[in-house]
Amino acid sequence: MFNQFFFVLVLLSTMASCTGAKSAQVVSANHVLHPVDSLLNLMTIEEKIGQMSIFTSGGDITGATLRDTYKEDIRKGRIGAVFSAHSVRFTRQLQKLAVENSRLGIPLLFGYDVIHGYKTIMPIPLGGAASWDLAAIQQASRIAAIESSAAGLHWTFAPMVDVARDPRWGRISEGAGEDALYGSLVAEARVKGFQGSDLTQNNTILACAKHFAAYGAAQAGRDYHTVDVSERTLREVYLPPFKSATEAGVRTFMTAFNELDGVPATGNSFLLKDILRKEWGFDGMVVTDYTSINEMVHHGVAATDKEAGELALNAGVDMDMQGAVFYDHLQKSLTEGKVRIEQINQAVRHILLMKYELGLFEDPFKYCNKKREEQYVFSKEHRQFARTLAQKSIVLLKNEKGILPLPQNAKKKVAVIGPFFDSEKDMLGSWSAAGRAEDCVTLKQGLLQAGSALEFSFAKGCAPYGGDQSNFAQAQKIASQADYIVLYLGETRGMSGEAASRSDIGLPGHQSALAKMCKKLGKPLIVILANGRPLTIPWLAEHVDAIVETWFLGTEAGNAIADVLLGKYNPSGRLPVTFPRRVGQIPIFYNMKNTGRPYEANNKFTSKYLDTPNTPLYPFGFGLSYTPFKYGSIKLKQPFLSKDMPLDVSITIENTGSQEGTETVQLYIRDLVASVTRPVKELKAFQQVVLKKGERKEVHFTLSEKDLMFFDKKMNWVVEPGEFELFIGANAQTSRKVLFTFR
Ligand code: NOJ
Repeated sequence: MFNQFFFVLVLLSTMASCTGAKSAQVVSANHVLHPVDSLLNLMTIEEKIGQMSIFTSGGDITGATLRDTYKEDIRKGRIGAVFSAHSVRFTRQLQKLAVENSRLGIPLLFGYDVIHGYKTIMPIPLGGAASWDLAAIQQASRIAAIESSAAGLHWTFAPMVDVARDPRWGRISEGAGEDALYGSLVAEARVKGFQGSDLTQNNTILACAKHFAAYGAAQAGRDYHTVDVSERTLREVYLPPFKSATEAGVRTFMTAFNELDGVPATGNSFLLKDILRKEWGFDGMVVTDYTSINEMVHHGVAATDKEAGELALNAGVDMDMQGAVFYDHLQKSLTEGKVRIEQINQAVRHILLMKYELGLFEDPFKYCNKKREEQYVFSKEHRQFARTLAQKSIVLLKNEKGILPLPQNAKKKVAVIGPFFDSEKDMLGSWSAAGRAEDCVTLKQGLLQAGSALEFSFAKGCAPYGGDQSNFAQAQKIASQADYIVLYLGETRGMSGEAASRSDIGLPGHQSALAKMCKKLGKPLIVILANGRPLTIPWLAEHVDAIVETWFLGTEAGNAIADVLLGKYNPSGRLPVTFPRRVGQIPIFYNMKNTGRPYEANNKFTSKYLDTPNTPLYPFGFGLSYTPFKYGSIKLKQPFLSKDMPLDVSITIENTGSQEGTETVQLYIRDLVASVTRPVKELKAFQQVVLKKGERKEVHFTLSEKDLMFFDKKMNWVVEPGEFELFIGANAQTSRKVLFTFR
């Protein structure tokens, strides 16, 4: 059937070339007629609502399990976007249906959760963040975009930029950890990686800042739970990464499942209109999270789905993910006057604008290219980079007497024990898109193909959780014959991520008992951790010789871990999140407030526990290297900073060991007296320096007025004169400090 697609295509591309895509966007911001408005004028109300609905394909390349009516819906223009459909073959098939059969032939938008890689799986986001290497983090997203755009995708539901201070929350694995500034820098890097510098290129995709907002503050770390934070905490802790994503040009936002101060985020006009659109000037598109409109009925702010849809649209939502609320009810809401046509037009306009910016009106099949798919997806270069980022993401938490690296040229026996030593699927972590378990390098494979003189033997010892101790005997046998015992312990990939909160974040099942059994053998004991969150591991921290935090490192996991164990890579990762000693300390994060009764060892009536120290097991920013670094003293160019005079800060770092290493030098401040209480430390800058053995470098930072700003009592963004402490060190517990004033 001939449709108006070619007319629309000509209309839009002519207007695009007359105005130029860039200036067309400027015009859009000023709400003057944009090319997509011409299309909007041709659309029926059904077609408009269709653009506002996205449904899942239910999974994979051949899994055409959209709603049963999907072919009919696409033909009738009742679906504007599809998610989880990927591969050139499948997306082409659906796209053809839309552009050749629907009345206006508006192309579909294909979205997917490409969270840490499409098919070449990189470390989980929390792991990647542990690299503290922003260029590498950006490159990981760039590669994810190259692969997914080559597989027919236009849009990723990433980055998740939720700050998370509660490791019980499983989705802490999907973000950049606990810090607002570091989270903002990572958000910027990830957005730039996905979107590149030009969205019309066929290897860039729309990024999506999610979940707006404060989803990471779920009470008690239980997923989807209530969020109740002050506006100060919201603005100082949870919003900065979203703002940073906006400034980096992110084109889409996803609402969160949670409520905020009694109003679900999906129906929250304070978030979606006042902050996002008005304060930040965002002109892209807002999609809901999966059925989060419908869920407002359970939240208790709407009696029916229809009413929930009205709340969502009126609050500023553009697209309904999977809930079919707009699809089923919006037209009636319009007829009843519960929503206005202008709001619908605005939402559709935002959506069409995304398609326009991607260049889909010029060529809807631009991302469907078999050759590109074959060339880029899971390419050798991408796998090589995955190994590099995996190496950088590993954090060495303990290394008594330099037990690591293992002597790779010695004819020694190494027993590798634990449930994950050969578990391909657990290398992937949660959200692994098109990543395949069989493509992952396990620790066993990594060690065996590394080509050392070491002799390895392997045993599981126990199941990751549940099970019994019946396999301890075999583990004990190989362990007692070995010179070194390497335990690979932690969580399965499904124990973090969405809907994977834990109330006990210690080692599950019989793993602790396995470690204790191995300890009794009196051999050098090394523990490698697989996990999507900080774990409470005080026994390990005290009793084993080395601990290597490896998160879930993706496709190249086994190679990267072997590289570190065998000393081919000197570990450089640093924790982007605090490790508590016990669950009872949560929430615990480095930038807490001082309180009116700060800790004093000999004063009972100060802020502390009877049964555990206040300090974490491992602080934010912590990580060891195979080489030690010595810090000099902090030098200030002048002891003050003013509006017009930034402060130059320097410090000398020396590698006093015998091999090259990378140090992450961190700068924190504390505002000593202000009109509102300020945290005991706030990260303001960091730099990574690579130092050869014996090398020394002077590291410079520049602090300016904006680094000292905060929200005052009236939520104004201010700086106040007075004294500040400035700390520089290797992690958030550093006590190396100097004073300066702001005047
Ligand atoms: C629900 C998750 O919260 C969100 O992050 C994800 O993008 C959607 N499902 C789509 O899979």
